[in-house]
Amino acid sequence: MAGDAPSSLPVQLVEQPRLLKLKESFIAKFGSAPKFYVRAPGRVNLIGEHIDYCGYAVLPMAIEQDILIAVEPVNNDVVQLANTNSLYLDFSTSVNDIQINKTKPQWHNYFLCGLKGIQVELAEICTKSERYIGTEGGGMDQSISFLAEEGTAKLIEFSPLRATDVRLPSGAAFVIANSCVEMNKAATSHYNIRVMECRLATKLLSKSKGLDWKKMLRLQDVQAKLGVSLEEMLTIVEEVLHPEPYSTEEICKCLGISLEDLRSQILSQNTQDVSTFKLHQRAKHVYSEAARVLEFKKICNEAPANAIQLLGELMNQSYISCREMYECSCPELDRLVDICLQFGAVGSRLTGAGWGGCTVSMVPTDKLNTFLKNVKKAYYQNDVQRLALENNSLFATKPGRGALVFVEA
Ligand code: GLA
Repeated sequence: MAGDAPSSLPVQLVEQPRLLKLKESFIAKFGSAPKFYVRAPGRVNLIGEHIDYCGYAVLPMAIEQDILIAVEPVNNDVVQLANTNSLYLDFSTSVNDIQINKTKPQWHNYFLCGLKGIQVELAEICTKSERYIGTEGGGMDQSISFLAEEGTAKLIEFSPLRATDVRLPSGAAFVIANSCVEMNKAATSHYNIRVMECRLATKLLSKSKGLDWKKMLRLQDVQAKLGVSLEEMLTIVEEVLHPEPYSTEEICKCLGISLEDLRSQILSQNTQDVSTFKLHQRAKHVYSEAARVLEFKKICNEAPANAIQLLGELMNQSYISCREMYECSCPELDRLVDICLQFGAVGSRLTGAGWGGCTVSMVPTDKLNTFLKNVKKAYYQNDVQRLALENNSLFATKPGRGALVFVEA
């Protein structure tokens, strides 16, 4: 059973000499009084050493001795840290630029780790939370929402969750255009069917390579276990999976399980009655798209003279793969992508789950105004419903900052 959340305790500072002293040091350093104090106890392990990270139980207790921290929330991004022990120097940084130097650990790094940990943890809690609605989401939305920083896109890697800056080239704008078609991911099974197709492809690929297929859930697990490149995974997909849809009977036969096992152990609730799955096409999309992500990052880092062209080409390939291999587009998205390319986008693609929603297009800055005017005319102007939504449906945007709490000043 989980323990209680850290509690709060009203105290009379005059009766707490250590807190009183801490308050005085705080005022001397920052010129204002702390708003609250935090206590973290020391601990002693009674028995069970070096076995927790192997998954075994240990037997510690918290002790009476502790560390005290005085805190004052501020209305800006700056974290200022000071230690009552003058051996440990003052430190300050922006919460949006937390750098933890692992080769030279310093006292303040422990605070920065806490901040970073909370951001990652919140992202993972929100990813798990979304699954209660019934969709088997991957965590992209929640991760970028918490880990975003102004002025940069991020490469988000999973297990463990990590975010790396990807600086987009200057000279191009990213334009979002809403197809005005709505697809409710939770109310339909489109999304989960794709997740299940990838899961089944994982199982079949693993089985064919002699891996412990029961434990494998994600296509990336297969690549990691085999220790091969994404290109090699594409070859393996060609060798192992056939393009014709797989019936549930065939899948059960390949895996040596019953239909009941397939339903109860592998499929989600809203895909129980699906009778055929496309595995070859879905796996092909996933491995090729994963390679495109890495290529996109590489081009952004290296910033060659034709970066915009190259990135646009990758976006176009991604869209074609989504449409042909993953089949997550729809006629309106197809039309919108065509229009965007026709009016000057160097790359245009559906973004997010698909089957509706938005496109994202990369447009050279000098063409932006005419692009917006022409797309408006071609996609929104002649449709009353679309036109009503147009103000919020077609706009250029920039990498913004992540989720935050506003407090009244
Ligand atoms: C939705 C999900 C994400 C991701 C995208 C598709 O937005 O919430 O986790 O799977 O679809 O890339």
